[in-house]
Amino acid sequence: MGGVTARLDDLPLRDDLRGQTPYGAPQAALPVALNVNENTHPFPGEVADDILDSIALALRDVNRYPDREFTALREGFAEYLGYGLTPDQIWAANGSNEVLQHVLQAFGGPGRTAFGFAPTYSMYPLLTRGTGATWTAGTRSHDFTVDAESAASQVDAADPDVVFLCAPNNPTGTPMPLDVIEAVYQAARGIVVVDEAYQEFAPRSEPSALALLPGRERLIVSRTMSKAFAFAGARVGYLAADPAVIDALRLVRLPYHLSVLTQAAASAALRHAPTMLRAVDEIVAQRDRIAATLPALGYEPHDSSTNFVLFGGVDDPRATWKGLYDRGVLIRDVGIPHHLRVTAGTEGETTAFLDALASIDSRS
Ligand SMILES: Cc1ncc(COP(=O)(O)O)c(C=O)c1O
Repeated sequence: MGGVTARLDDLPLRDDLRGQTPYGAPQAALPVALNVNENTHPFPGEVADDILDSIALALRDVNRYPDREFTALREGFAEYLGYGLTPDQIWAANGSNEVLQHVLQAFGGPGRTAFGFAPTYSMYPLLTRGTGATWTAGTRSHDFTVDAESAASQVDAADPDVVFLCAPNNPTGTPMPLDVIEAVYQAARGIVVVDEAYQEFAPRSEPSALALLPGRERLIVSRTMSKAFAFAGARVGYLAADPAVIDALRLVRLPYHLSVLTQAAASAALRHAPTMLRAVDEIVAQRDRIAATLPALGYEPHDSSTNFVLFGGVDDPRATWKGLYDRGVLIRDVGIPHHLRVTAGTEGETTAFLDALASIDSRS
């Protein structure tokens, strides 16, 4: 073949995918990468050793398909989550993005709608459209909160098949109290997904929506190992719901979707949950340090229950983002006017970010 390649427009692509943009957070090899809310702390060595041993064992069976039901892993997640959950209430996949995709494949799809309060996680509309469903955005108040009354009336009016409640919310960091989730569930006819990707960073006093699962068969609570568990590269997400929901997800997953290596690695990491989560308190301290320092630099941080801070008061987000980039610090322009988002890193990375930001004259 020569060097001639077709353009997207030349292909018989689905009409509803034409003109769309793929997910594309920049991946640049900068010394300080604080742009995709990873856990940037060094991976605990003793856990890495145990994971390697587990993978070595699993490798002996790599000629066979893995346990399609990932039984041991589901037991591990049920135990980790608590709340009296049983393995038949657990589902997992290659990252919570795939978990959410399974939910949309089962409960969204052509002719159906999914809904979330914008600004929220940018993958919800993409995953929704990927299954042929339509995305509808609701609104939040100026501080990015949404109260129970407004949330319920918006959901009632939109009447979606799937509601996504990102709690706490990405990219704003905003917590969502349980009374809002309860009100949305009551107003909704369809599935309500509470995406708790950042729950481990919330104050212990902010309860998980897992407490609401009993008696609510349309409620789903999703989690990920990518953030607090420092496992983003392994791609493991999971959810808890009524066993009937799990049965629905079996209809759409690919057979053997979780490799024997992924299952072994995730089960081993879960056995070390307290060690894996050791960095959480330190990350929360750095998050709070960012929030406490930004006002002195002229910026307006929003309250965050996550491992990142969204801050306003940025005259020209693109220029400030580039200024940081040129100083070796990668953060995220999430497209909210006059705002940028930064992940809380190690103490050193956080210092590098704050120093770099202080050296930029945002008013120029
Ligand atoms: C709110 C939210 N949900 C889900 C995800 C996806 O996480 P993963 O697919 O790595 O589990 C992210 C990642 O940034 C997120 O911010």
